[in-house]
Amino acid sequence: MRRDGGRAPVAPSLASVRMDSFTIGGDLEVRRLGFGAMRITGDGIWGPPDDPEEAKRLLRRVVELGIDLIDTADSYGPEVSENLIAEALSPYPDGLVIATKGGLRRSGPGQWPRDARPERLKECCEASLRRLKLDRIDLYQLHSPDPNVPYRDSVGALKELQDEGKILHVGISNVSLEQLAEAREIVEVVTVQNRYNLEDRRSEDVLEACERERIGFLPWFPLATGRLAEPGGPLDRIAREHDATPAQIALAWLLARSPVMLPIPGTSSVEHLEENVVATRIELSQDEVVAIGSATEG
Ligand SMILES: NC(=O)c1ccc[n+]([C@@H]2O[C@H](COP(=O)([O-])OP(=O)(O)OC[C@H]3O[C@@H](n4cnc5c(N)ncnc54)[C@H](OP(=O)(O)O)[C@@H]3O)[C@@H](O)[C@H]2O)c1
Repeated sequence: MRRDGGRAPVAPSLASVRMDSFTIGGDLEVRRLGFGAMRITGDGIWGPPDDPEEAKRLLRRVVELGIDLIDTADSYGPEVSENLIAEALSPYPDGLVIATKGGLRRSGPGQWPRDARPERLKECCEASLRRLKLDRIDLYQLHSPDPNVPYRDSVGALKELQDEGKILHVGISNVSLEQLAEAREIVEVVTVQNRYNLEDRRSEDVLEACERERIGFLPWFPLATGRLAEPGGPLDRIAREHDATPAQIALAWLLARSPVMLPIPGTSSVEHLEENVVATRIELSQDEVVAIGSATEG
């Protein structure tokens, strides 16, 4: 018996829609729409959310809908996002991939100083293992290069954690093409997480490299649509034609843009989560994909 008393579900599960998957690192098969768990904390990604029970309900709904990739970081809260994930979902269902990150410190709301010293990364990973109640983290990502630490030293720490069996796969984030190449000399990089959306496509070169190498690309801030979504703009027009919102079209466009694209939209609301899942049903024509892409470049 459904908890909603038998009403038709607002959102389909991902299992019921045509949703292709991507295999991270050759063995972690995930559906291509993930969930970003940064927004389940307090304002400024600082402290607990106003309603922790609602945040846990949201996380359980993520899994119910068939999403099997959750992105988080020790710095979200800090610690709050990882703790809520463990409280809501542990013991985890088979196949759920929790991708976390280390390499930033928190000194207050909205402040994200970098700290990717090898010894600090190892401490962070140990703490994430404890908070997430895991013996091994499936995907551990270096949150950002630290200008005070040679990049190869930070990446080398993740390689050592992998050799010790504490993490299965290594991902990197906020990197240039050169940093991606440098990291790949040290360890197999299975994902890159960079800012990428309709308004900001500065990581196009990194995305193309990921596509060539079959590396998963997690675009962060995927929902930004900016001026494209203004009334009468290209996104607004196409959204109306699909009876959708500009945010949904932005997600559909990302999914159509590349087979290695793994968007991780973040939300604190079940309603928005369900709306984002519905976006996976939207099939844009090739003309629409091109029209949206070229409007962005213009
Ligand atoms: N690697 C990095 O440096 C880095 C940096 C930033 C983020 N991230 C990761 O990327 C994930 C996504 O990034 P993000 O949260 O910055 O950006 P986003 O997912 O593009 O946008 C999130 C914002 O959009 C709103 N939203 C979500 N769904 C919506 C919908 N259907 N309609 C209208 N508004 C909607 C959310 O508000 P509501 O809560 O009201 O829904 C929230 O304010 C994060 O959760 C985190 O996991 C990584």
